[in-house]
Amino acid sequence: MCGIVGIVGKQPVAGRLVDALRRLEYRGYDSAGVATIHEGRMDRRRAEGKLFNLEKKLDAEPLPGNVGIAHTRWATHGIPNEANAHPHFVDGVAVVHNGIIENFSELKDELQREGAEFQSQTDTEVVAHLLAQYTRQGLDHRAAMLAMLNRISGAYALVVMFEDEPGTMLAARSGPPLAIGHGRGEMFLGSDAIALSPFTNEITYLVDGDCAILTHDAAEIIDFDGKPVKRRSQISQAAAFMVDKGNHRHFMEKEIYEQPEIISHALSHYIDFAAHTVKANDTAIDFAKLSGLAISACGTAYLSGLVGKYWFERYARLPVEIDVASEFRYRELPLSPSQAALFISQSGETADTLASLRYCKDNGLKIGAVVNVSESTIARESDAIFPILAGPEIGVASTKAFTCQLAVLAALAIGAGRARGTLMADDEKAMVKHLAEMPRIMSRVLNEVQPQIEALSRELSRFKDVLYLGRGTSYPLALEGALKLKEISYIHAEGYAAGELKHGPIALIDENMPVIVIAPHDRFFEKTVSNMQEVAARGGRIIFITDEKGAAASKLPTMATIALPNVDEIIAPMIFSLPIQLLAYHTAVFMGTDVDQPRNLAKSVTVE
Ligand code: F6R
Repeated sequence: MCGIVGIVGKQPVAGRLVDALRRLEYRGYDSAGVATIHEGRMDRRRAEGKLFNLEKKLDAEPLPGNVGIAHTRWATHGIPNEANAHPHFVDGVAVVHNGIIENFSELKDELQREGAEFQSQTDTEVVAHLLAQYTRQGLDHRAAMLAMLNRISGAYALVVMFEDEPGTMLAARSGPPLAIGHGRGEMFLGSDAIALSPFTNEITYLVDGDCAILTHDAAEIIDFDGKPVKRRSQISQAAAFMVDKGNHRHFMEKEIYEQPEIISHALSHYIDFAAHTVKANDTAIDFAKLSGLAISACGTAYLSGLVGKYWFERYARLPVEIDVASEFRYRELPLSPSQAALFISQSGETADTLASLRYCKDNGLKIGAVVNVSESTIARESDAIFPILAGPEIGVASTKAFTCQLAVLAALAIGAGRARGTLMADDEKAMVKHLAEMPRIMSRVLNEVQPQIEALSRELSRFKDVLYLGRGTSYPLALEGALKLKEISYIHAEGYAAGELKHGPIALIDENMPVIVIAPHDRFFEKTVSNMQEVAARGGRIIFITDEKGAAASKLPTMATIALPNVDEIIAPMIFSLPIQLLAYHTAVFMGTDVDQPRNLAKSVTVE
């Protein structure tokens, strides 16, 4: 979603602001803008589309100035055009915003009645008008900021500058993340530490209800009533993760191929490879004593949680309630403090997941966070952090974060099984050995299936609709396969539990809708093959993703059969994720879509 940067600097800032925006591109956006103050005058450049368009404008008409703010906008209120792009200017006030001002409509009516003229369709512009109004009424900038903050409601990270006070920048957070970067004689603001990493690694994260006042040398933090608050700065690891595509065409491709190495690293955090055991869980959550587990997340992270549910229930006999966070937060699910709650999030900033976390916290549950960004809000509000250690995921479509989430959940479920006495030491040992072998098998699969999948993707790119089927832990994979294909290739795709085929989707089967069946040779194999028979009998084309045993056992004609190595059930979801990711990736490449930044999508969804 929107990305924010601000610099109170000693050197020209426009170029640095655009560089920082580039590091926020992965969040998703459809227009961008920069504003600076130079010799007492504020000016801006804004452009629809990618940063490249903004840079062209800056080349033609450079923006001097040592103080400035910048923004990548992911449209919510108003189409992505130049007029709606941030920064918004009103009478010497400049504002950039991430989030949604929920009461903007009534505020806009009121401001218009008082004579304000709006230049955009955005909710953000009311913030600039309110600030200008309070300043005209004689309030100083800090007082105007507090007055404005007490009028608006919703979710926001805001950065504001005033033309007549260039040495000061104001910021506020209520929802979406915002971080202060401490430099030498320069201060910075950014949506995340990655944006600020070339400038500084000393970061202070604002929390909800914080207002910050930055000058060249200092940051003062107050609450919305003006009372001082103390926040500790920390040294961020983001710079260590500075990323490029290497020799890959897209970040997504790079992230797919990184998985064996990254998973091996992640597993070493949870597994004692010498003893073949899961390392003791010495966190705030004692799985042995739990009566149940609630899991919530969004999108791909939710689907990894769905696989986790199968594992926790089967191996640890621990009942799991799971729901997408946008439903979970409003379901008024009865919870008891004897349960724990697990929130899964790559970014650690997803608004619905965070709201669900707070609901569980209010109900007295211990909170665990399975997150990639250990400095994120979800991590900071949790009792126990289970890092997935995937490194920054830049491609909007999640790949390595998904398999790392699975690996961590597998280790947690095995550990929980041992703690609850439902898994014997020998079972644990056998499963851990399989996990230890997994990175090697992943490398092999990535190398072996790539040419076949690339060729198949060319065929798949001709279709308009695709159905994915799976049973057991392959059911969430079917959902993930469909999600991945639709989000980056824009081909309509649905995932179904194979057993549900007869209850509706079978009506769609014909030669125009390929059916991708995910079926390792496990205890559900025969049943899934029966579903394949039903598809074949109706002229459906089957893409069969199975293992060597499964390929040998099924005699059905297919459009393609992808035969992976035979692997144990505990690692099958991670191994079978690979062809699913590659299929979506290559199909999108054939379709010529923007693979890393698909249309309309944001990497970090910080509003409802
Ligand atoms: C899909 C995808 C999204 C995210 C979802 C949750 O490829 O990446 O569905 O999984 O937006 O995001 P996080 O994990 O950051 O909470």
